[in-house]
Amino acid sequence: MILLIGAEKGGTGKTTLTTNLAAELANQNKDILLVDTDTQGSASKWAAMRDSIEDDQGDFTRVASVQKFGSEIRKDLLDLSHRYEHILVDAGGRDSVELRSALSVCDKIYIPLQAAQFDIWTLSVMDKLVSEAQIFNQKLHARVVINRASTNPKVSETQSALELEEELQSLEFSQVVIRERSAFRKAAKRGLSVCELTSKDLDPKAAQEITALYQEIFGDDE
Ligand SMILES: Nc1ncnc2c1ncn2[C@@H]1O[C@H](COP(=O)(O)OP(=O)(O)OP(=O)(O)O)[C@@H](O)[C@H]1O
Ligand SMILES: [Mg+2]
Repeated sequence: MILLIGAEKGGTGKTTLTTNLAAELANQNKDILLVDTDTQGSASKWAAMRDSIEDDQGDFTRVASVQKFGSEIRKDLLDLSHRYEHILVDAGGRDSVELRSALSVCDKIYIPLQAAQFDIWTLSVMDKLVSEAQIFNQKLHARVVINRASTNPKVSETQSALELEEELQSLEFSQVVIRERSAFRKAAKRGLSVCELTSKDLDPKAAQEITALYQEIFGDDE
């Protein structure tokens, strides 16, 4: 499967979700490649950090990664999809040539959306991009996943999201909501996923959220 994590808005959690899912796939012994299409290279840095973890800190499965830029990504992804079981593409935070190019070949796109920045305008840009891509890439399945949602149960972003869904043509909402949890930042700094944190750093709720997202995306492939 080629999974694209993309959004035209920056800082919504693309790299966070890509790296967490990549680590989980690697831990399930899946043959995966992380493709970083963002010139900031955060996902590649995460993978490099993961490589450099000393053995005495734990035994973490390596995540292979490459950086790819420009419109050739479409061809590169098609070639790579014959060599890897799963390809995870981390797109940059804007309407880039990489985002459009990857949209034309991927099987799924997950679009992280920050609950606090919820706005129909942002989503309608992605809705249009996905609708256009689906003309040529009919298998493309697109979901929005709310990230950094408040942990306060009184704040109900999920409900407002569901109300927006009716106005969208090609996007549906993920069943999973990822909440604002410091474990995501702790894991990112160390080249890990939240499911790999231990002792005082472990946050079982963050781990549950990533496991649920993993199941929703890859569950049918097991
Ligand atoms: N669920 C979360 N809980 C806490 N912090 C989070 C969560 N998701 C993301 N963050 C933090 O928010 C910041 C932005 O996340 P991230 O880098 O994944 O976004 P991005 O969409 O890849 O950004 P860019 O558009 O710059 O590539 C990071 O500091 C990250 O650690
Ligand atoms: Mg990023």
